[in-house]
Amino acid sequence: MDRNRILELTADMTLEEKAMQMTQLSPDMFYHRCPSNLTGPLREWRFEDEQLQEIGSVLGPSGAAYLRKLQEDYLETSRQKIPLLFMSDVIHGYVTIMPIPLAQGCTFNPKLCEEAAEAVAREASAAGLHVTFSPMADLVRDPRWGRVMESCGEDPCLNGRMAAAMVRGYQGEDPADKGRIAACVKHFAAYGQPEGGREYNTVDMSRGVLRDFYLPAYREAIKAKAALVMTSFNTVERVPASCSKLLLRRILRQEWGFDGVVISDYAAVEELMNHSVAADALEAGEKSIHAGMDIEMMSGVYAGSLKTLLEQGRITESEIDECVIRILELKNKLGLFENPWKDADEQEEKKVIYCREHLETARKAARESMVLLKNQGALPLSDSGQVGLAGPFACTGNLLGGWHCEGRPENTRTLGEALEEKLGGRLVTAMTQPFSWGGDRDVPDMVEEAALGLKDCEVCIVAAGEPEWETGEASSKTNLRLSKNQEKLIHALHEAGKRVVLVLFSGRPLEIGPVLEECDAVLQAWFPGSAGADAAADILCGDYNPSGRLSMSFPRNVGQIPVYYNYYNTGRPAEAKADSYVTGYRDCPNSPLFPFGYGLSYTDFTCGGLEISREGGKLQAFVRVRNTGKRSGKTVVQLYIRDVSASVVRPMKELKDFRKVFLEPGEEIRVEFTITEDMLSFYNEEEKWVWEPGEFDIMTGLDSEQVETRRIVVPAQADREA
Ligand code: NOJ
Repeated sequence: MDRNRILELTADMTLEEKAMQMTQLSPDMFYHRCPSNLTGPLREWRFEDEQLQEIGSVLGPSGAAYLRKLQEDYLETSRQKIPLLFMSDVIHGYVTIMPIPLAQGCTFNPKLCEEAAEAVAREASAAGLHVTFSPMADLVRDPRWGRVMESCGEDPCLNGRMAAAMVRGYQGEDPADKGRIAACVKHFAAYGQPEGGREYNTVDMSRGVLRDFYLPAYREAIKAKAALVMTSFNTVERVPASCSKLLLRRILRQEWGFDGVVISDYAAVEELMNHSVAADALEAGEKSIHAGMDIEMMSGVYAGSLKTLLEQGRITESEIDECVIRILELKNKLGLFENPWKDADEQEEKKVIYCREHLETARKAARESMVLLKNQGALPLSDSGQVGLAGPFACTGNLLGGWHCEGRPENTRTLGEALEEKLGGRLVTAMTQPFSWGGDRDVPDMVEEAALGLKDCEVCIVAAGEPEWETGEASSKTNLRLSKNQEKLIHALHEAGKRVVLVLFSGRPLEIGPVLEECDAVLQAWFPGSAGADAAADILCGDYNPSGRLSMSFPRNVGQIPVYYNYYNTGRPAEAKADSYVTGYRDCPNSPLFPFGYGLSYTDFTCGGLEISREGGKLQAFVRVRNTGKRSGKTVVQLYIRDVSASVVRPMKELKDFRKVFLEPGEEIRVEFTITEDMLSFYNEEEKWVWEPGEFDIMTGLDSEQVETRRIVVPAQADREA
């Protein structure tokens, strides 16, 4: 459909119809309603029955048959017959569930994440969905916040690469194509930094921090052509994102040139009143319209206030039309005017959902996302002897993690099953009840019994962690330790002389310091998804050499949070002097327990011989990576840069590029990085993107702590040319 037709449709709409086009509700609210008996929020929001007939988009429905019928019924009664948009939270899988995004970040393999997102889109589109509320590009530094599981971690570069890869995976060349859906990057902006890690709390940071760390990943998603942006619940510079002209008008639209649809988070327009930046719904609507919020999700501010606002001259019709046109353009971009059902197809659903190929992708992604944190020879498991398995994650399919959409924990293979396939009768289990005992209720008898049950096993795997309901939205925590009984189980097995292999299932870095000494090996498995148990078994048994690297630092204890690698230097750096008047703690080092970018392998790698070349005016770094061990495997070569002295404080190091490489035993390769001007640039005090001539440290290594450094001087352009 051409743009003129969109303009005609807009011109033909009544104001009420426009307001409803700009409103998103769940099917319960408008489809399964009882028109003569409106109750609850519907009544509070004062939707009229006729209004509900012209709703523009739907939150959270799914299933080809259901969505075909919903669209059909809607088009029958709607006056203009503009198809509905179906949007949902397909975060890391529809039915086949991939590892949680924090784990996907640990793959350092954007191509693989793109492949995973493509499989996810294939399932979701066959089920009739048009838009997914993913990727979440919120940078995270505080594991107390439950939603760190939805992010790809603490680094802007990694986060940006992953967000862009996911957008490409969902949308392909064109979201209208078969098997594709539109991506909605969220939560714009800086939702990942709530004070104290407390969900929905205030976010407050300087413009420089926002620019340096928090904005880049959203921008990468937009450069990759994400069709929508969702605003965040929080404030930025004291203004809630859902009415922030700074974020929505200036940065998103003007600076970044985004011309897609902006949608609020759930009821966030109405919540402007709770934030106390709007005295009433009229003011909330006025502010969001001025900021250019196109769709209001799950509240009725637009529906109830646009008419009055227009009559009172507080908003203009062209501001409303701007939003409506963008919504219709999205529908057009998805081809809905020609085919309102898009890919909804029951046959295709049967074919693609939970298919072997998607499960294989999920297994690959899970294998690459698991991070081996410690190994004192306990892994891979040896070929003989009995192997013990205990812990709340030993025999459960609850490995999918929060936001698992239509995932099927009941069909998901358990670690016990996956290990049994490989170890047969060598596997002995004890104390495998899922979280019934995971709380703080003391169960000393069970722990003793378990230790006794595993007495003939030299090696015991403890599948421990946090329950999935303690992660995700509204799941902030102040205690990140394993529950007492899990710690006791590890302790009892260690005391009994066992080699303890801890396999950790969690949606965040947990505080594992208290049990680390007692474990001979630790594998961070995250919530690994539908094929996660097989992936973990592949690693434990040595059929896959672990290659995951941490996307988020592990704190030594909660008091150290936030702890992250790319911090700014202080006037009293910890490294400078051996006295107490430097930045630090009396009772704890500044460094994390495990740093960003860290992870072990079953082979050994060296990385060194960093050389810088400026041939032909091109700045390049070369480094040699060698597999010095006995097994083939993958490692991640990481390039960091520090601007040694600048007009504003710069981070101690910033990841600028990385390569995941595969090496046979004894193989050595030379990895090359091109250092671009962008990699040296930052937003200065005037908010200009600049690079300042002078000294830079170029660093390469296999994690963010152990790096080799070359200091270089990059002169101003004119000097370089002279
Ligand atoms: C609230 C969450 O913050 C957001 O991430 C999600 O997409 C919406 N609800 C819709 O479910």
